Amino acid sequence: MGFNNWARFECDLNQTLFTETAESMVKRGLQDAGYDRLNLDDCWLQHARSANGSLQWNTTLFPQGLPWLARFAHTRGFHLGIYEDSGNQTCGGYPGSYGHEQQDAETFASWGIDYLKLDGCNVYPEQGRTIGQEYHIRYHKWHEVLSAMAQPLIFSESAPAYFLGNDTAWSKVMDWIPFNGELARHSDDIIVYSGAGSPWKSVMSNYHYSTLLVRYQQPGYYNDPDFLIPDHPRLSADEKRSQFALWASLGAPLIISAYIPGLSDDEIKFLSNKDLIAVDQDPLAQQAALVTRDADFDVLSRTLANGDRVVTVLNRGDHTAETTVSLDRMGLVSGCGFKAKDLVSGEETKVNKALHVRLASHATSVHRLTPPRNCGAIIPTGMVFGTNS
Ligand code: DGJ
Repeated sequence: MGFNNWARFECDLNQTLFTETAESMVKRGLQDAGYDRLNLDDCWLQHARSANGSLQWNTTLFPQGLPWLARFAHTRGFHLGIYEDSGNQTCGGYPGSYGHEQQDAETFASWGIDYLKLDGCNVYPEQGRTIGQEYHIRYHKWHEVLSAMAQPLIFSESAPAYFLGNDTAWSKVMDWIPFNGELARHSDDIIVYSGAGSPWKSVMSNYHYSTLLVRYQQPGYYNDPDFLIPDHPRLSADEKRSQFALWASLGAPLIISAYIPGLSDDEIKFLSNKDLIAVDQDPLAQQAALVTRDADFDVLSRTLANGDRVVTVLNRGDHTAETTVSLDRMGLVSGCGFKAKDLVSGEETKVNKALHVRLASHATSVHRLTPPRNCGAIIPTGMVFGTNS
């Protein structure tokens, strides 16, 4: 959970952006809610390495330097993350890490950095290797370097995003990704603030690709559908809240790319929703799986570590609509019903047979179902003898 500059500011980053963002995250309660990472993206670098081959920060953008920024972050309770690329150059044309993996890892650690997003631009296969093998070799190299460190950096891998559109290659990459790092970007860039096109389509597209990757997520590895964009000017209020509710249901990284001091109180409020953050951070780390899809509604479900079940309902349609989700068809049986909390509205009810949901266009509700005490655990229908006939 944290902040990254890319979707909101792209290459327009500097020291002040990060210090102001940190101060604002503290003041506005986001840090208390769990957002404790400040991650730099592309364009923080100088165009050339130093004489001894080390990476150098852009001294105009970061006059006091990245070690200073890391200390600033640490004294305020944040971690500092950085961006590099597995290729010859970053997407923005700055020096890539290929051939410098060990040196760059040592540089980052010496600066006080503990998180690396490794992008996948400008990767060209060495002779005799396929492009898929090349990515695997390079990300595995970084995995080895990071794992050997006294305090390994968290490793965010961008490789799958570079194979989107080729299902076979994409799933081959996904087969090794969870063993190399803690999170991976699996789809296109979420639309940037200045970008043309529909941000809702972009949110829906990345959500869709996450739903295809349920089986990969596990404690210690998370599918990353990219940044939360709560101040995107072309997302409606319901769409912004939906993105957050869906990302939390997926157990996705919650990395905000927005101008934090400019967020409205309502935006801060939904980003700080404790119940949804608890679902996002649940130790079982299950990703909500898509259970049904009809013309309007998606229904997703996920089990939490304490045995509660989360049922998420998204109205993809263009109008307010209603739907009913039968509990036993979701594999939920309880003789005395369930306590049901709508984690978006906070409303608590009791549910026996079905959830009845009415949602505005593009809105999402997330229901946490708990069997009342002394009423037995949540048991998949098929395992309850005699109740299925
Ligand atoms: C492509 C990545 O997917 C983006 O998130 C961002 O890191 C840019 N590269 C930076 O050039």
